[in-house]
Amino acid sequence: MGKTVKDFREAKGKRLVYLTAYDYPTARMAEAAGVDAVLVGDSLGMVVLGYPSTVPVTLEEMLHHTKAARRGAPNTFLVADLPYLTYATLDRALFAAERLLKEGGADAVKLEGGEEVAEVVQGLVRAGVPVLGHVGLTPQTASQLGGYRLQGKRPEEAERILKGALALEAAGAYGVVLEMVPASLAKEVTERLSVHTVGIGAGPHTDAQVLVFHDVVGLYGAFKPRFAKRYLEGERLIVEALGQYVKEVREGLFPGPEHSF
Ligand code: KIV
Repeated sequence: MGKTVKDFREAKGKRLVYLTAYDYPTARMAEAAGVDAVLVGDSLGMVVLGYPSTVPVTLEEMLHHTKAARRGAPNTFLVADLPYLTYATLDRALFAAERLLKEGGADAVKLEGGEEVAEVVQGLVRAGVPVLGHVGLTPQTASQLGGYRLQGKRPEEAERILKGALALEAAGAYGVVLEMVPASLAKEVTERLSVHTVGIGAGPHTDAQVLVFHDVVGLYGAFKPRFAKRYLEGERLIVEALGQYVKEVREGLFPGPEHSF
């Protein structure tokens, strides 16, 4: 039996580990590695579907991947992202959350934004939907923030991020992701919130950490964010293995007697 929303509500100060996963095999591996939560992030648009950003990701795509991830990690707390514009109104957010929880098997949803989404978060929470907030760099609206860059360096930006995180907590979010903010700001936000913070590119002081699966195992060759640590050169190793298969077929070495009936 995995963790429940109550465990995450009481996760302050515990060093919990979130990892994204997008399908049956990645979720299976995440669960086998013992992560506390799987996040079916809309980053799947970039690392799995090859879109240039997370903006094109649809609810149907999120649902498809959430179902597969749930089958791969049946015993792990699973959070699914609400895609861009599916929470522009409370009605739309309730519709999307209902599908991700009932059909997709998610335990919670995540959405991006601070004070401007607090009302929607409150409506979802009142309806019984566990919500994880997300401030700092918010990829769905990255172009409005000047691209994929550090947020909260300027005092007015830092103030906006802190106020946003506090508004999400007041609205009932069970935790808040802090993406690409200075470690000192993440520390301050973490100290000011009573719910847990989940850092990505936010330094060591947040309560929990999250990384993108493909960054951890080196499967997204296009780009490696500075804040991510590659624990495996996955793409290189897989291409080498596939190259060996191609070579052996061409040279008549595969299939051998042990692969034949
Ligand atoms: O979409 C995603 O994977 C995310 C994480 C990077 C936090 O939002």
